[in-house]
Amino acid sequence: MAATTPSTPPQVRAAQFRAIAAAAATPCYVYDAGAIRAAYTTLDRAFDGYPHAIHYALKANSSLAVVRLLHSLGSHADANSLGEVDVALRLGFRPDQIVFTGVGKSAAEIDRAVSLGLLAINVESPGELDRIDQRAVAQQVKARVALRVNPDIDARSHPHISTGLKSNKFGVPIDEAPALFREMSSRRGLVPVGAHVHIGSQITTLDPLHKAAQAVVALAQALREEGIALQHLDMGGGLGISYDGAPVVDPAEYVRALVAATRGSGLKVAIEPGRVLVGPAGVLLTRVVDVKQFPGAKRFVVVDAGMTELMRPALYNAYHRIEPLARRDGPEATVDIVGPICESTDAYARDRVFPHVEVDDLLVVYDVGAYGAAMGHTYLRRPLPPEVMIDGDQWRIIRRRQTLDELLALETE
Ligand SMILES: Cc1ncc(COP(=O)(O)O)c(C=O)c1O
Repeated sequence: MAATTPSTPPQVRAAQFRAIAAAAATPCYVYDAGAIRAAYTTLDRAFDGYPHAIHYALKANSSLAVVRLLHSLGSHADANSLGEVDVALRLGFRPDQIVFTGVGKSAAEIDRAVSLGLLAINVESPGELDRIDQRAVAQQVKARVALRVNPDIDARSHPHISTGLKSNKFGVPIDEAPALFREMSSRRGLVPVGAHVHIGSQITTLDPLHKAAQAVVALAQALREEGIALQHLDMGGGLGISYDGAPVVDPAEYVRALVAATRGSGLKVAIEPGRVLVGPAGVLLTRVVDVKQFPGAKRFVVVDAGMTELMRPALYNAYHRIEPLARRDGPEATVDIVGPICESTDAYARDRVFPHVEVDDLLVVYDVGAYGAAMGHTYLRRPLPPEVMIDGDQWRIIRRRQTLDELLALETE
């Protein structure tokens, strides 16, 4: 965050981080409201008046203050569970501003989604189409649905976050889509309003995103010729950010490419960005708790945050930039920066050349605003850490640290 928020001088930011670490203790997530505003505005403006809706993907970070901020900017919502739908509703999103995606919606989820009258339930299979129709008929309503198509396009991202290939579990093969749209149009309980595609996350080249957009536009045009008129094309999320300084797609260029692909159809474009809106806006503050050197072998910097606070390195071998908050005199060393969890995969960095650090030093782990706190968990009975929102020269705790009593509150002995 510090490096990507030009408006705040680094020394001011460092002083804020020090004050936050003193008040909230570490580990602690810190988000910059200004960076979230700037990222949202960049995407929104790039549509340049073309009809669109930005549905923030709550899965990236559904902390209330973060989602509230995006709502205040005019964002709509993309929910991947009923819990996220309810968070969005609680924060003031109208049902017709929410799209609901999920590869395995339960009967209870379908029932409630139908009753809410969401903008679209994104349908993942012929079986789910049936189930939504049945529940809508039982409730004597018509559910607005979009079909999630799987275009068999390689997002060229990490295999664990690629979703648009035939071998992935998501959506229906795009060549089956016309028949399923016909089916949806014939059902008493359904109104097909859109087509949806989401081919993966952390996508760093424009081509797969552009191809996926062209595929759904072609589908919508073929459907229109048959008399099935959609209202929106939901192009999903997936735009990557630069964790390591390597080039990524410019967000405005991405939007312009989507608009260029869609303009001929005149259809409204929906997008579901998560990471690009909040990822660079967040850091994780963590403290060095040990430094140890195996003779003739590795040097370990052990910190008080681990895979419980940031799963991405353990899950995807993901790279995060890490820096000490203050520089010390002393030689650089090649180190593994590891967490305190009893799993060998609990490492934030391996064999990284790192400045000299000592026990109690504060480190800043960058770009954790997306899929950081949202994927946090309490393995080893580690209570969830606090979250802080900086806005200009002010900051506030938006989630206090969980207590052990709260962690155990649901259990009986
Ligand atoms: C259906 C859907 N929409 C949107 C997103 C957000 O993706 P990202 O955070 O990469 O923009 C995801 C995440 O993978 C998703 O599964």
